[in-house]
Parts: sequence; structure tokens; C-alpha cells
Amino acid sequence: MSPKIPFTIVCLLIGGQLTFGQQKAPNTVIEQKIDALMAKMTLEEKIGQLNQYTGDRAATGPLTTNSTKYLDIKAGKVGSMLNVRGVTDTRMVQEIAMQSRLKIPLLFGLDVIHGYRTTFPIPLAEAASWDLGAIELSARTAATEAAASGLHWTFAPMVDISRDPRWGRVMEGAGEDPYLGSLIAAARVKGFQGNGLGNKDAIMACVKHFAAYGAAIAGRDYNTVDMSDRLLWEVYLPPFKAALDAGAATFMNSFNELNGIPATGNAYLQRDILKGKWGFTGFVVSDWGSISEMVAHGFAKDKTDAARLAITAGSDMDMEGHAYVIGLKKLVEDKTISIDLINDAVRRVLRKKYELGLFDDPYRFSDAQREKKVLEDPANKVAARTVAEKSIVLLKNEGQLLPLSKNLKSIAVIGPLAKSSKDMMGFWSVKWDNDHLVSLYEGLQNKVGNNIKLTYAEGCGVSDTSRAGFAEAVNAAKNADVVVMAVGETFDMSGEAKSHANIGLPGIQEDLIKAIKATGKQVVVLIMAGRPLIFNWTADHANSILYTWWLGSEAGNAMANVLFGDYNPAAKLPMSFPRAEGQIPLFYAAKNTGRPLLNIKDPLYKSAYLDMPNTPKFAFGYGLSYTTFAFSNLKLSKAQISQTDKLQVTCTLQNTGKYAGEEVVQLYLQDLVASVTRPVKELKDFRKVFLQTGESKEVSFVIDKEKLSFYNQQMKWGTEPGDFKLMIGNSSDNILLESKFELID
Ligand code: NOJ
Repeated sequence: MSPKIPFTIVCLLIGGQLTFGQQKAPNTVIEQKIDALMAKMTLEEKIGQLNQYTGDRAATGPLTTNSTKYLDIKAGKVGSMLNVRGVTDTRMVQEIAMQSRLKIPLLFGLDVIHGYRTTFPIPLAEAASWDLGAIELSARTAATEAAASGLHWTFAPMVDISRDPRWGRVMEGAGEDPYLGSLIAAARVKGFQGNGLGNKDAIMACVKHFAAYGAAIAGRDYNTVDMSDRLLWEVYLPPFKAALDAGAATFMNSFNELNGIPATGNAYLQRDILKGKWGFTGFVVSDWGSISEMVAHGFAKDKTDAARLAITAGSDMDMEGHAYVIGLKKLVEDKTISIDLINDAVRRVLRKKYELGLFDDPYRFSDAQREKKVLEDPANKVAARTVAEKSIVLLKNEGQLLPLSKNLKSIAVIGPLAKSSKDMMGFWSVKWDNDHLVSLYEGLQNKVGNNIKLTYAEGCGVSDTSRAGFAEAVNAAKNADVVVMAVGETFDMSGEAKSHANIGLPGIQEDLIKAIKATGKQVVVLIMAGRPLIFNWTADHANSILYTWWLGSEAGNAMANVLFGDYNPAAKLPMSFPRAEGQIPLFYAAKNTGRPLLNIKDPLYKSAYLDMPNTPKFAFGYGLSYTTFAFSNLKLSKAQISQTDKLQVTCTLQNTGKYAGEEVVQLYLQDLVASVTRPVKELKDFRKVFLQTGESKEVSFVIDKEKLSFYNQQMKWGTEPGDFKLMIGNSSDNILLESKFELID
């Protein structure tokens, strides 16, 4: 197809279907400019637009020797660079692109996953806030900083549903649930893209990893994925669709194969679903080297063959795979593939460059003064602290030990992470020289000044086997009013390629907790980690537990605010916390089976473990507050609804405790009998409600057809008449109000 053929026809032919979903229809002026530019481009220059190299400062994947990369840029053989950041560096590299024949600007991309200059909590932690405004604010702040620092594009949000905490990349996502995950995916896209590409503080989002990467067998990174179409459509795809509907500019495909076909070479995912059925008008970048990795998968015979498979399947840009530069030209010249494929991919990339305004001014993101001002803006730290406070989950609070009194005389601060600043940044954070993240100890010092004596003892290292430091820690505990312990994972224990078969608290940290607890002192344990860990003894014996994840720049200040009650925790777990690795995968939205375990004492011939309960240690949606809430007065507007009705549901929430605080009112549904078995519970809505002490509020929800729909036996989305159970609670395992209604034809 010649570049002169209008875009709509390309779309019709390539996508098979002229639908843009909620994606903005392409701007005709831009499309005409692309036509004119493409008419001037040689085949090599076109292929160049589909080629992305990494910069020299950081590598986020296995490096390939590349001594000609800057010459390639000058020759118009590179469309984008990743891992080049900062106004100075991006300008320098853009200047090289401006020496190329057609002066097509480069796109600069980076993994801005949870903050840029200011580090926010890891995405899984933010998901625990169930606060979409806070999550959007985090992405907005990151985008504002990144855009001021020369960047056009973040490789986020990662929207992979994951139900396996052995997989280290759970830290990057929003957890196990497709409904919560979809809302968060959309909030993140809105945050990154702000008021839209073309605004100086907006960067392109990149929704990843398309698709089903989170279901890698046994939680081993990059591993095979094999799943039913039903699971794919019901659980794994919804967050991608939500991100697309929120206007996401780009997608990234993924390393895994899906049912025998690597995602990167998967036409069903990229052509049929994403660019066809969903009408995606942006471009798809491969994951790092994932085009070439199709050779190792045993799917392509060499890099050229991999390039053929990837471009045919709809992968538009090759990230550090060097397959497109090696293979595409020959494939077009010997007519193995049509030039139409290249033209479509190039058009998609150029469209984003135009939308970003780079053709008007390739340096519009390269203002050093603006960079300095934005990166030093103190408001960013305030935002990071606010989001960090909202991400902390209170798992246990025996005898209302927390919040701590400001009249205490002394606190023993014990544990390998108590003084750690570096680990607070978590995996996938942007590194800075002389960076300073607030440790727990420093946050406590900031809070109590000289009013409370803090005694510190490390006790042991995170992965230590030596108990040599226990005695000093025990001594510190004995001489203090209360003990605050900081344990968990170092920043590099969860993340890409950080799968663990054992997810207990690393090293001898739980032994340290036992030794401290044996002093008889009251112990608050803070667990800092990138994934759900297993810590059964601690869960049963510590007096209070806060799951703080990795909270970013303001970690210590946020933790101190929570410990002393200046912020009342309200977060809820976005993933189930197992009792043992043997329960994994573990998730609340499970099926009943034909032999459900109704009574734990009667497991004979039931779907049960004989050596432990089926239930998690801490359930999805669980999290406490310093105050208490009462749920009452559930009302449904009707007992029967038709397909077009909307069911109004209300209940009353009252703060019955001593502190002002927030509760997340969670609404779950179960379709009791259907032509396809349905989960025992599915989150369908929630409200995060703030109440003063003693205050009550009516909380309302609307149930419409969409919330009752599922994929039937023919994989058609829709409803079936019948009874539904409606459950409202403060956790997936603590339903406080229940009712039923019937859907009629
Ligand atoms: C590989 C990771 O899977 C992906 O998420 C990331 O964006 C790229 N490397 C670039 O760093």
C-alpha cells in the first residue's frame, strides 16, 4: 500500500474493523503531514523509526555491543532511545537526530514506574490505597518531573494482573483483581498523560505487558503462560482495555508466550484484539529484546525471521532487539512481507511524535531552567508523603497499641531496615547522585525530636545468618517503653527477574522478632517489601503490624505519621497474603468447586488442604484502621431488575471509634447459577469514605447490566437471568451486609 492511501483505509485493511473504541480518532491535519513526510522517506529511514536503542548510562536488560548507535541516529536509523534522561543528555542526543537527512525527532523513553526525581511508593503499595485520586497524583507528579527532564514517554503503567507473589514483578502492578486493576490502570494513564499529548507536562503512557505476563507458570519470571480464553478475557485483559479507553498512547508487548505463541509474535493479541477489535491508534513497542528472543522460544529461526513474525503480528517498534534493523529491509525487498506493514507501523510512531509537538520543536522538553524548577519543587515531596501514608496497611493492632503515645519516654528501633534509606526506593526507581530517601529512623527523629529517646540496634542484616547482633537488640528492647521493628526485603529482592520460590521473611529476621518478643515488651513490626511475604509467626505474635511496602522518598516521615496517629491508616491489601507457598496461586475470586469446604473440621472428600486452611493469612481487601466502623441498613431499590434497570444499593457507614478515619466499603457480587460457573465473589464497586468520630454517612452504589455481565459459553459478553448475591464488607473475607436480587429477562 502506498503512503498516499488515506489512513482510514489503512486502518480498515489492517485492523479489519474501523472502530477506535474510546481512542481519539486521528487528526486529519497530522495524518496529512505524515503522508507528506512518509513520501520522502527511504525504506531504511522508515525502518529506522521502528528501531529503539538503549542509551549508555543505564541498562534495563541484557546489553548488545553497539558501537555505531550515534552514527545510526545521524543516519536516520533510530526512532527512539530509552535510558537517556535529563535535559542535557536528551538534548545532546536529539541534536544528533537533527543532523539526519529528514530531521525526524527521537522519542525518549524511560521506566518512570513510581516517580522520577521524587520516588513514590511502589505501584503495588499505591494500589493498596484504593485511592484513585492519590494514584493519579503520583503519576501526574512523575510525568511533570519527567517531562521537565527531557522525557516523552514512560514504560508504565504495568497492568499485569498477578495472583502469584513468587513473581517479583507483582511490585509493579495493582495486584490480583481485574476491577480494581482496571480503575488503577486508567488513573495511571490519566496521570501520565495529563490534559493530553502536546501539553508540555504530559508524557506518553505505555501499557504493559501485553498480555498475561503476570500468569507466568509458578511465578518464575519470563516463564510460559497457558490459559483459557475465558481467563484471559475476564481477568487479564480488562486492565489493558481500561487503560486504552483512558487514552493510552502506546502499549508494550511481553516476554512470555501465551498458549504456545510468544506475545511479541502474537497476531491474536496485537492485531485482532488491540488494533482490531479495540481500535488502538497508537503504537506497540516490543519488550527489551523480545523480538529476538523468539529465536530462543523456538518460534523464529533467526533474527530476520523474528522480525517477520513480530511486524506481521503488530509489534511496531523493536526495543534493543536489533532484529528490525537487521531483518526488515531484506524481508521487504525480497517481498516476504508487504511494505504496508512497515508503513502502518511507521505511521503509528510518527503520529505520536506529531501529537507530542516534537516536529514543531524537538527541544520542547529540553529547558534546563524548567527542569531545575520542577525537580526541586517541594510540593512533589508533599505529594509523595501523602501517597505513602495512604499506602500503609495496618494488619494487626492488638490492644490498640497503635497509635503510639507522644508521651513515651523511649523507643527501641530495631531491625535491618530501620536505618535504611536506599531500600525505601524500591525496585524500578530512577537513581540520582546523592539521593536522599527518609529512613524510618530519620522519620521518627523528625517526628519526636528530643522528646522521646530513640535507641537503635540493627539486630541482623536482611539476609544474614549470624545472630551476633541479637544481644544488643534485646538489650535495647529491654530498656525501652516499646519496640518498633523494621524488617522485610532489600530494594532488589522484588522486581524484574526477582522470582523467589520461598517468600518468607528473608534470613533470620523472624528469629530476631522472636528474640525481641521474648523480652515481654510490646512490639510493632513494620514490614517493608515489594510483594506479599509469609510471616505467620510474626502475624500471630507481634502486637501490631504495619505492611509498609517500599514507600519512596518520604518513607520514614509517612511511617512516623502513621505510627503516632497523625495519619490514620486506611489501606487495604490488593493481593491475598498466603500462609504458605503451597497455596499459590491464591486469590479471593475463586470458584466454589463441586466439593466446597464448608466446615474446616470436615475436610473429607472436600476441596481442601489437610495441613492448613484454604484461606489466606490476610485476605484481599483487608486492612484495619485506628478507629472502628459499623455497617448497617442495607437497602436495595428493587428485589427484581430487568436488563435495562439500574439497581440502587445503599447502606450506612458509621465511625464508632475514637479517631477520625477512612473506610473502604467494598461491594461484591456472586452470580449464583449460570451457564458458566462464576466466582464466589467478585469486587464490583467500592467507596473510600472519610468520617469524623461518631459520624454516619449513607454510601450508595448503582448496579447496572455491565456489572452483571460475563462471557457466556459462546464467549459473548452479557447477562443471564437469575439470582445474584450482593455482599458488602470491609474485606473480601469480612462480609458485613448481604442481600439477594433477581435479574429478569
Ligand atoms: C524490560 C521490562 O520487562 C520492561 O517492563 C521495561 O519497560 C523494559 N525492560 C525497559 O527497561
